Amino acid sequence: GIPKFVKIVEVGPRDGLQNEKNIVPTDVKIELIHRLASSGLSVIEATSFVSPKWVPQLADAKDVMQAVHNLGGIRLPVLTPNLKGFEAAIAAGAREVAVFASASESFSKSNINCSIEESLVRYRAVTHAAKELSIPVRGYVSCVVGCPVEGPIPPSRVAYVAKELYDMGCFEISLGDTIGVGTPGTVVPMLLAVMAVVPAEKLAVHFHDTYGQSLANILVSLQMGISAVDSSVAGLGGCPYAKGASGNVATEDVVYMLNGLGVKTNVDLGKLMSAGEFIGKHLGRPSGSKTTIAFSRV
Ligand code: HMG
Ligand code: MG
Repeated sequence: GIPKFVKIVEVGPRDGLQNEKNIVPTDVKIELIHRLASSGLSVIEATSFVSPKWVPQLADAKDVMQAVHNLGGIRLPVLTPNLKGFEAAIAAGAREVAVFASASESFSKSNINCSIEESLVRYRAVTHAAKELSIPVRGYVSCVVGCPVEGPIPPSRVAYVAKELYDMGCFEISLGDTIGVGTPGTVVPMLLAVMAVVPAEKLAVHFHDTYGQSLANILVSLQMGISAVDSSVAGLGGCPYAKGASGNVATEDVVYMLNGLGVKTNVDLGKLMSAGEFIGKHLGRPSGSKTTIAFSRV
């Protein structure tokens, strides 16, 4: 059977916006986070404490975090690629962070400018510092089925990196199909390999919807016992270091499917869709959510 409750991790303000060419004003980001929170989402990835040279869109991480960190009752994790980012995040009020490794050596180089092993050394330093402050750390593995340079990635490599992150203390491992090439045909064997070394209740799935496979991939993940799903309001997003990758699966579409399955999320679809319309207006583009488009026609 599938889980009765699914935790949605909203990544729109981070993964969704990081690839936008035009700088989104800080107050728009803050308002987006407020609107997402009021839709009932309990985890919202707010921003990244990364190099502003690498991701100019999130150069205002400190201001965003300072403005939202006291939002009641919700978790607001931020990406931290190293100790420098971790310290800046904590100083700005972050109470939860995420580190991001890759199952592909080439993608690790292009995304964080170091090898997989070097990244794991950095992340051990971050998880160690976080433990001293009782800060929970989430771990991402990118390129879990395919890499823009290396092509298909063996499930054993994904399992190896996931286990390393789990062993260093990450409370949850999010498995990212960064370029959205996976289908249930490749996702199931990948999940079986990871679930042999990390329990399903410690895993999340993170699908980009480049080939329109996300909902099918989420459904098979739920059937395999995973109950945490990452998604992005209005399907915003894409990784600046994964050329051609499109946005994350739209949160609205995930909620619509889960409602249909009778799975609880505590998210109000109407309020969520209006948060999506709010950011869509600012970006000047139609929603990437099929659910939103459908409701706008009826
Ligand atoms: P580097 O150039 O190798 O770092 O970048 P460095 O240590 O040599 O430092 C270079 C400069 O960056 C220095 O400044 C540092 O102070 C600064 P300078 O002396 O030149 O003025 N710096 C920082 N500044 C602010 N915050 C920091 C920080 N660290 C160093 N934390 C680095 C290495 C990791 C910093 C860089 O490559 C980087 O920031 N990469 C981030 C890339 C990124 O954010 N990618 C998108 C997120 S991952 C993703 O989208 C995938 C995911 O969604 C899952 C999936 O879809 O699969 C999570
Ligand atoms: Mg992503």
